[in-house]
Amino acid sequence: MARIFSGIQPSGELHIGNYLGAVKNWVALQGTAESFFCIVDYHAIIAAYEPSQLRQRRREMALGLLAAGLDPERCSLFVQSDVPDHTELAWIFNTVTPVGELERQTQFKDKSARQESVNAGLLNYPILQAADILLYRADTVPVGEDQVQHLELSRVIARRWNAQFAADADFFPEPRPLLTPTRRIMGLDGSSKMSKSTGNTIGLLETPEEIWAKLRPAMTDPARLRKTDPGNPDVCNIYTLHKAFSSPDTVAHVAQQCTTAGWGCVDCKKVLAGSMETELVPIRTRAASLRANPALLDDALASGAEKCRAIAKETMRGVRERMGFTA
Ligand code: TYM
Repeated sequence: MARIFSGIQPSGELHIGNYLGAVKNWVALQGTAESFFCIVDYHAIIAAYEPSQLRQRRREMALGLLAAGLDPERCSLFVQSDVPDHTELAWIFNTVTPVGELERQTQFKDKSARQESVNAGLLNYPILQAADILLYRADTVPVGEDQVQHLELSRVIARRWNAQFAADADFFPEPRPLLTPTRRIMGLDGSSKMSKSTGNTIGLLETPEEIWAKLRPAMTDPARLRKTDPGNPDVCNIYTLHKAFSSPDTVAHVAQQCTTAGWGCVDCKKVLAGSMETELVPIRTRAASLRANPALLDDALASGAEKCRAIAKETMRGVRERMGFTA
């Protein structure tokens, strides 16, 4: 049976970029195959952080994911550090990965260029990511576009480890990314990827007032200077969000109003805010009931971790055996 795995950092906020690029797909896919979704707290400690906040950020992420529609009956939701085998397998994969391949990763190049002192965790980050996926021998990884290069490396690692240690050459399957039509959501500045670290996000659990305060000044077609100028929807980030949240009829109407200068950008944004509300209200409602009943969250994470520990143990037995350790 196919296995689905994906992960998300406990950044403290689940934003609509995460949701449209990955999490919405997780919700749609759970139950179609054995599904594992992981809150990757070992990855999150690569940048400076406040230990007292890590627990809170993990819980907040778990709450957001359950509110978005993950169902513990149909998938395993768990925290990475609850399954220590992730780091053991990562260590093993370190030994089959040339440093040059890690240095070529775009995310490493971008992030290390902005830091004076680069820790080894940042370089080795994609190895831990490969271990996350391969520990469950998953073949399908629903992610946003920014993760595709890391997944290519995961495939290379699987192939290389198989060739070196597994007579049954496909002990680890080569995992494939699964992308959504909204694989890269831009931030409200319209110029860089929506990301918590850039501060250009809309949180999935924000109130309508908070969302409107962000949408109102958000970047649209930069060439449309006056309300009476026709706009070009194809270069407008608000139009992209309409395609993600509004009905096809509304999307067609938006394009027509924009190109004929029928609506100003604020009119268009009001319609978008309405479409977003339709999708976000049930998510907010589920979040409120989870906050009122925190045991649901604890139970989901505990049963997810228990299931994952059993599978991880089984994989590690196979790995250790093939590598000459005591199994
Ligand atoms: P992270 O936490 O940055 O993001 C989680 C998921 O959200 C997607 N995403 C986006 N998609 C579209 N537009 C955006 N603006 C946007 N921002 C984020 C990401 O592509 C991702 O799918 N390295 C991973 C976490 C990870 C992982 C894994 C993923 C660790 N181990 C194993 C898959 C499999 C990361 O930092 O995602």
